[in-house]
Amino acid sequence: MSYITKQYDFRDKSAGYARLAEELGALLAGETDRIANAANCAALLFTSLPEVNWVGFYFLRGGELVLGPFQGKPACVRIALGHGVCGAAAVQRRTLVVPDVQKFPGHIACDVASRSEVVVPLVDGTTLLGVLDIDSPRAARFDDADARGLEGVARVLIDCCAGQRP
Ligand code: SME
Repeated sequence: MSYITKQYDFRDKSAGYARLAEELGALLAGETDRIANAANCAALLFTSLPEVNWVGFYFLRGGELVLGPFQGKPACVRIALGHGVCGAAAVQRRTLVVPDVQKFPGHIACDVASRSEVVVPLVDGTTLLGVLDIDSPRAARFDDADARGLEGVARVLIDCCAGQRP
């Protein structure tokens, strides 16, 4: 399989993320393995989104978040629920947009270049699967439009692997 990365125009973020979600759906079609699909999702996001230095997943395993497929520098492997931005988003089950990571109490720094972050919880029905985490080297890189757009992208991944546990 060869894959040609498309260029996305995020001046209209809603439209840009809708196209990205559509492309992800085509990329994952026919495959239900959550790890494989999360790996391709991380790669697609990392190569499509401007100004990001880390894109990846943490999956809930044994009551803690454990590192899954990602693109970027090596990262911390285990995050307790309620800790860091990832653990907070997982417990609250809502997307957290952090304009300045240094001002987020308990932020876990994996890449010192990261200045802002967005974390989207992955929820299948009532089951928390994990989180999608994206870092940027630019402060205030993410806004509500990114949050909503990334929730749509995450939904495509969840629906492709419905019912499967990592
Ligand atoms: N910053 C995250 C930790 C994961 S790394 O960014 C890859 C957090 O505070 O939960």
